[in-house]
Amino acid sequence: MAGVSNGGEAKPATAARIYDYYLGGTHNFPADREAAEAMLRVFPVGPKLARTNRAFLRRAVRYLAESGVRQFLDIGSGIPSEGNVHEVVQQVAPDARVVYVDIDPVAVAESLEILEGNELATAIRGDLREPQAILSHPQVTALLDFTQPVGLLLAAVLHFVPEDDEAYDAVGQLRAALAPGSYVVASHATTDDVVHDQDDLNVAHDTYQQQTVTPLGLRSRSQFERFFTGLDLVEPGLVWLPLWRPAPDDPQYFTDDPKRSSGLAAVGRVLMP
Ligand SMILES: C[S@@+](CC[C@H](N)C(=O)[O-])C[C@H]1O[C@@H](n2cnc3c(N)ncnc32)[C@H](O)[C@@H]1O
Repeated sequence: MAGVSNGGEAKPATAARIYDYYLGGTHNFPADREAAEAMLRVFPVGPKLARTNRAFLRRAVRYLAESGVRQFLDIGSGIPSEGNVHEVVQQVAPDARVVYVDIDPVAVAESLEILEGNELATAIRGDLREPQAILSHPQVTALLDFTQPVGLLLAAVLHFVPEDDEAYDAVGQLRAALAPGSYVVASHATTDDVVHDQDDLNVAHDTYQQQTVTPLGLRSRSQFERFFTGLDLVEPGLVWLPLWRPAPDDPQYFTDDPKRSSGLAAVGRVLMP
């Protein structure tokens, strides 16, 4: 396939499709698999991190659906392969509506294929750094009613917006559009309590940066917490990925040492002004 152009430099792999490969999906290309395998050589826990993150997302959206949320805006959604948001929430509430948004056009095309026939879920191309374009997109406004609670999902995407100003501003604009009773769900790769070998992490990071167009920037716990300022954090608060309301049907990775998941997670509820 053609590489994604970035300043004249071909970077053929994408985060969405590397992540899909780590999840065991089939929506990826040789360049994605090569980049993924190169990172696996130094950082073999990658697939477990991906599955642990996806499992958190499933638990969080099930919680939201069981709490009455019927609309979901999933930004940085990747490829909604098995067990993703629309399947989980429509199991709880068949009338739940989902808009997936991703920067990767191939992920969007694959998503649309998966969603064919599902009139209550769609996928659009959008950039988290351009929140107003997402909020005013005709397919978003057709499917979602922002006068009612919405689940805003930002799972494992904020670390692809490494500039703090851009990330906090984008989330601020999205949060401003949410009605009381809405929720913000987010997970984030972190620099805190690094338990993996730093040299290996550096090699994996360099490989990733060389092969893909979406740069990676990890944040500390307090930097992640800032995205939730003013929201009511759902119990158990901001925790390592496997510790957010663990469920018996999840992959049981990192349960003995949750910080090895390298990811933080939280769900916050929008209060009455
Ligand atoms: C690690 S995947 C996470 C997928 C899914 N949210 C999950 O947690 O299972 C990150 C996704 O974010 C997307 N992404 C990266 N930067 C983005 C941006 N600025 N706007 C929208 N999507 C972005 C990537 O294309 C990729 O699909």
